[in-house]
Amino acid sequence: MRIESLPRITASHLVKSIDLNHHGTLFAGRMAEWLVETGFMTARAALGCQPENIVCARLHGMDFRKSVGSGDTLVLEGRVAYVGSSSLTVYVEAGPFGVSTVLPYTDGLVTFVHIVGTRAVPHGLVVETPIEGEALELWNRVLAERHFQQRAAQ
Ligand SMILES: CC(C)(COP(=O)(O)OP(=O)(O)OC[C@H]1O[C@@H](n2cnc3c(N)ncnc32)[C@H](O)[C@@H]1OP(=O)(O)O)[C@@H](O)C(=O)NCCC(=O)NCCS
Repeated sequence: MRIESLPRITASHLVKSIDLNHHGTLFAGRMAEWLVETGFMTARAALGCQPENIVCARLHGMDFRKSVGSGDTLVLEGRVAYVGSSSLTVYVEAGPFGVSTVLPYTDGLVTFVHIVGTRAVPHGLVVETPIEGEALELWNRVLAERHFQQRAAQ
């Protein structure tokens, strides 16, 4: 299976006063919450499993490039970036509805692990390693982070 053929999940949120920081713009913690939520739904759609079988293990590489204002509709889209044996990493990008930019306002990676009980268990999803384009860039970005994380743990 090609990674590009896995489902992409889009979620929209209206930015309300309860979502704002002391600058009056979208609070980073709320953005992180929405990013993880979108990632979770994307991972679940890819694995076709029950929610109790997925746990978030890592939120990484999150960049805030532009602030988002109150009243904006924020659109997030998740797609699978990397598939491991029991883990799966989702790339999520976000921006206000109707505004097109070269780079997303915010993006990041969220890694989920397939579990049974509290134990990591292979999820059984197998994809071909991407050979070109954005899919390859995302795959290599996650691979590099995995290597870095493994080295740091030694
Ligand atoms: C996620 C968890 C189940 C992993 O358990 P573990 O015994 O450390 O798992 P393993 O070392 O066997 O790793 C299993 C897989 O998860 C990946 N993984 C584990 N911890 C990870 C982390 N912090 N970041 C990224 N990937 C991670 C491993 O790379 C491995 O991937 P692969 O099978 O695709 O190669 C465990 O760390 C856990 O329960 N963490 C708490 C999760 C949680 O409470 N989330 C909510 C946060 S509020």
